[in-house]
Amino acid sequence: MRRAVDNQFGGVAVDELMRVALDATSGTYPHPNPRVGAVIVSRDGTVRSLGVHRHPGQPHAELLALQGLDDVTQDTMIVTLEPCDHHGETPPCTDVIIDSGIKTVIVGTLDPDPRVSGRGMDRLRAAGIEVLDSGLSELVESNDSSYFHHRRTGRPLVTLKLATTLDGQIAALDGTSQWITSPESRNDAHHLRSQNDAIAVGAGTLLADDPLLTVRFDDFRGRQPVPVVFRGRRSIPTDAMIMNRDAIVLATEDHTWVDIGVALDTLGGRGITSLLVEGGATLARSFLDSGAVHRLVIYIGAKLAAGTGAPAIAGSFLTLNDALPITITNVDSLGPDVKITASLGEVA
Ligand SMILES: NC(=O)c1ccc[n+]([C@@H]2O[C@H](COP(=O)([O-])OP(=O)(O)OC[C@H]3O[C@@H](n4cnc5c(N)ncnc54)[C@H](OP(=O)(O)O)[C@@H]3O)[C@@H](O)[C@H]2O)c1
Repeated sequence: MRRAVDNQFGGVAVDELMRVALDATSGTYPHPNPRVGAVIVSRDGTVRSLGVHRHPGQPHAELLALQGLDDVTQDTMIVTLEPCDHHGETPPCTDVIIDSGIKTVIVGTLDPDPRVSGRGMDRLRAAGIEVLDSGLSELVESNDSSYFHHRRTGRPLVTLKLATTLDGQIAALDGTSQWITSPESRNDAHHLRSQNDAIAVGAGTLLADDPLLTVRFDDFRGRQPVPVVFRGRRSIPTDAMIMNRDAIVLATEDHTWVDIGVALDTLGGRGITSLLVEGGATLARSFLDSGAVHRLVIYIGAKLAAGTGAPAIAGSFLTLNDALPITITNVDSLGPDVKITASLGEVA
């Protein structure tokens, strides 16, 4: 496919316009659908309109961008993702684009969803529309990494979050853990929750803390993540707070532990593209042992346990070679605390 990098719109570069479309999607969580932004640009680089897909079932970005424009025959559509060519909850975007009379479409990246995957581009080309590659697929994918991961693997992207003392404890021996971190860290953790489709805890945390697992910060208007609990031998009280929120309970019939890969297939099959694992120590270990964790977010509170209560991750650390390599990608200060973000594995 021809690259659009050299296309200029009155001195405005394609990547600048693609960023406008990408930025417009900021804060949107239309999952399991992708985040998509689209702009209609005239030859002199004027952005005539902007469309963003906000919720499943609601109009797609391409339709919203074209809506209300009477003549687009001299314009270009710049869209972050390959337009769909199938009937879902809304009609195919390719139909809307073809009917509009627009002659050029610059696409951020291919949609790996098997229902699209090149078909959208082929359909537009067959209708005589010039379809160009933005050359910015890495940037576009990083804007919605859980969607791309989910469509390629069928599983959610997993983030493991822990809140620890400086010396790595998540609770005292008597089970108390509220609060190890400051209000600033806890507020940030609510933002982290808002960025995930589902939040998982183990039965131990549910029984110790009876968490609500909702997003709670001022002005939050988005959708609440789905609560998920992993259960082995113990039963979950029917009056646990998350049971009033239609929690997904993952358990096996014979009370053995759930295979994490199978659990992720189940959650992915329910359209969950991102999962935040909030502990406790035993569930954290299950996930780390399975190799399914992509990202770690560790809030280190300004407290020293100065002894062993409940270490952040259960199990033994037998020899240094067993330590998992990680790459620290960010270190932030949050009030008196520190937040460390890391990916699993070494820098490539
Ligand atoms: N500071 C923090 O960030 C933080 C976060 C969360 C929790 N905590 C604290 O951590 C403590 C709880 O930790 P914990 O290790 O006892 O509890 P946990 O990890 O929340 O729960 C452990 C239990 O979860 C179930 N489980 C774990 N993996 C499973 C799997 N693969 N399949 C099915 N079931 C699975 C098992 O339930 P069964 O017992 O039914 O077999 C297991 O005993 C509490 O004191 C809590 O306050 C702290």
